[in-house]
Amino acid sequence: MGDAPAPLAGDPSRTVPGGLPAAPAPNAPAPAPQPGEPVRDGARDALGALRSEVAKAVVGQDAVVTGLVIALLCKGHVLLEGVPGVAKTLLVRTLAATLALDFKRVQFTPDLMPGDVTGSLVYDAKTSEFAFREGPIFTNLLLADEINRTPPKTQAALLEAMEERQVSADGAPMKLPEPFVVIATQNPIEYEGTYQLPEAQLDRFLLKLTVPLPPREQEIAVLERHALGFDPKDLSHIRQVASAADLAAGQAEVAKLHVAPEVLGYVVDLARATRMSPSLQLGVSPRGATALLAAARAWAWLSGRSYVTPDDVKALAKPTLRHRVQLRPEAELEGATPDGLLDGVLASVPVPR
Ligand SMILES: Nc1ncnc2c1ncn2[C@@H]1O[C@H](COP(=O)(O)OP(=O)(O)OP(=O)(O)O)[C@@H](O)[C@H]1O
Ligand SMILES: [Mg+2]
Repeated sequence: MGDAPAPLAGDPSRTVPGGLPAAPAPNAPAPAPQPGEPVRDGARDALGALRSEVAKAVVGQDAVVTGLVIALLCKGHVLLEGVPGVAKTLLVRTLAATLALDFKRVQFTPDLMPGDVTGSLVYDAKTSEFAFREGPIFTNLLLADEINRTPPKTQAALLEAMEERQVSADGAPMKLPEPFVVIATQNPIEYEGTYQLPEAQLDRFLLKLTVPLPPREQEIAVLERHALGFDPKDLSHIRQVASAADLAAGQAEVAKLHVAPEVLGYVVDLARATRMSPSLQLGVSPRGATALLAAARAWAWLSGRSYVTPDDVKALAKPTLRHRVQLRPEAELEGATPDGLLDGVLASVPVPR
């Protein structure tokens, strides 16, 4: 793979007419900024270098890495769907290392309590007072593994903190660190004994990325690494190539991007088309349309442009919208899928030129 951002999970570039625009390859790997060092102009190069650094541990899955970088740029949360053993955990841990971000993982189980995630008040016998003990949510990258295994009360505590970026204990709000991004995993196969997230809460995730099984050659490459002694627990060979300051600089750059009125119109037309679809009982909300625009902007900037094209919108449509549409039961029985439906919408809505 070259240095251009990869197409997004489940969206091989051939599904986007004309393919995804390629980013200019950075000439040299960006020097690792020291923590706290001011960033000058290399934020895009630094963030572009994340992918090749993550690739030192994870074979393939470039599209998922690109999606996660887009989410970090948009301060958005991500749903990761994939069967066990496709390196979801390894990928997020490695990404945290390349950015020197704090990382925590919580396994969501049926007996997990809200306080196990957010933190709780504990009694200190010495001072005879209650003090707040921070839960694992106080981190930069939170891997919420198997979020649908925990009952709604605990899910709600997590989702509330995601939305508000704070936790309240005893009436006092406590701010979560910056950046703060939740990456929640779901197993697409085992639905038994799980608590599906309600639609309204799914809407709070910026992207839903699918982590596919690797193609044959990549799986062989995974085995070769293991044969050569690769230890997924030891990520000491992964360097920091970008920082939270690069993310902040990138966010400021993305905010300056030009969006033509035709592109705004295109995003809205796509959302409206989902609402008219006879196969859907719930189409994309204006919040979903806003999310699509934000993700397309971040992708345009990562690709080296100062304006957003309709192709940027197309490239991000499925990851941004697939969890925001709800199929009618009849359509589902007939084998319709959100991605298939969105493909139809993308094919039917006229693209501005
Ligand atoms: N694409 C890959 N590149 C490198 N190693 C891989 C890849 N896919 C799988 N592996 C190997 O498989 C192991 C399992 O990965 P990991 O635990 O990250 O999977 P997971 O998707 O988080 O699974 P689970 O859903 O059970 O948590 C990794 O530690 C790694 O050794
Ligand atoms: Mg895992």
